[in-house]
Amino acid sequence: MINDKKVLFSGMQATGNLTLGNYLGALKNWVTLSDEYECFYSVVDMHSITVRQNPAELRKRARALLTLYIAAGLDPEKNCIYYQSHVSGHAELAWILNCFTYMGELNRMTQFKDKAAKHADNINAGLFTYPVLMAADILLYQADVVPVGIDQMQHLELTRDIAIRFNNIYGDVFTVPEAYIGKVGAKIMSLQDPAKKMSKSDENPNASIYLMDDTDTILRKCKRAVTDSLGEIRYCEEQPGIRNLIDIYSACTGKAPQETVKEFEGRGYGEFKQAVGEAVVSVLKPLQDRVHQLEKDKAYIDSVIKNNADKASYFAGKTLRKVQKKVGFPERIRG
Ligand code: TRP
Repeated sequence: MINDKKVLFSGMQATGNLTLGNYLGALKNWVTLSDEYECFYSVVDMHSITVRQNPAELRKRARALLTLYIAAGLDPEKNCIYYQSHVSGHAELAWILNCFTYMGELNRMTQFKDKAAKHADNINAGLFTYPVLMAADILLYQADVVPVGIDQMQHLELTRDIAIRFNNIYGDVFTVPEAYIGKVGAKIMSLQDPAKKMSKSDENPNASIYLMDDTDTILRKCKRAVTDSLGEIRYCEEQPGIRNLIDIYSACTGKAPQETVKEFEGRGYGEFKQAVGEAVVSVLKPLQDRVHQLEKDKAYIDSVIKNNADKASYFAGKTLRKVQKKVGFPERIRG
């Protein structure tokens, strides 16, 4: 608890261009959670170097992501928006937690297996212990809830196991976090293959709408979205392409999927796709404008970065000192 509020932690990586799926499925919901919880939203740049990055590019993307958090409506006075690498407690706690995590547990992580297959030339120890760093992120702030997608559930389960294990040995040190399962969240699928999630790492640029795509590109991608030959706008399993477009339209307009179906009853796919594209533009254009506006104010962004790193360090330090003492590190001599 901080200020009588439950604590929420989440983070995103600044690798790849964020998509409409990241926005509608995660970022947009983060904004609605910020009243109810004391929120920490991190740009997890330490996780990013588990695969090789171009340094200048990573720095640029990390700043763009942090700016996007604010542009999306997260008030940096109320939400702690910061770079993971600015708070050394993440690395320090991760080391300690490494000593409470079993090889067998990490070996079972499906994301490690996937990434190891994809980056066969660089299967580094950081990639293997990635979930331990994630556990440190969460436990460092005594988070009660963690909004995560289904792909991160296994990591969250492991975080809980590590916390419980540690608490069993040393007493109640960590809050055991719960997954935050939002209201039927918008799970946005690829425009080219509606069986796959819309992903920032998709090789086909037409599969994803990127948050910074211009209007023409957005309209074109929607127009090219894969549908079917049934010619009817219905919200059903048999029409995954159309269903995805209904989800996108509904998430952008705030309408329920059934309302959307009614609205487009008897109309053609072409007309519907155009409307979907326009709905997406109506959401992304103002977001892009805010990003551009904020980018101009370098001093403001810098002050957010500094103040929130200090704030995060304060809370991280409290947990870290407790943990260090529990495991037997000598107390520091001050003064
Ligand atoms: N691993 C997460 C992802 O790739 C990002 C992340 C890092 C995270 N630390 C976290 C998410 C802590 C939630 C909580 O999506």
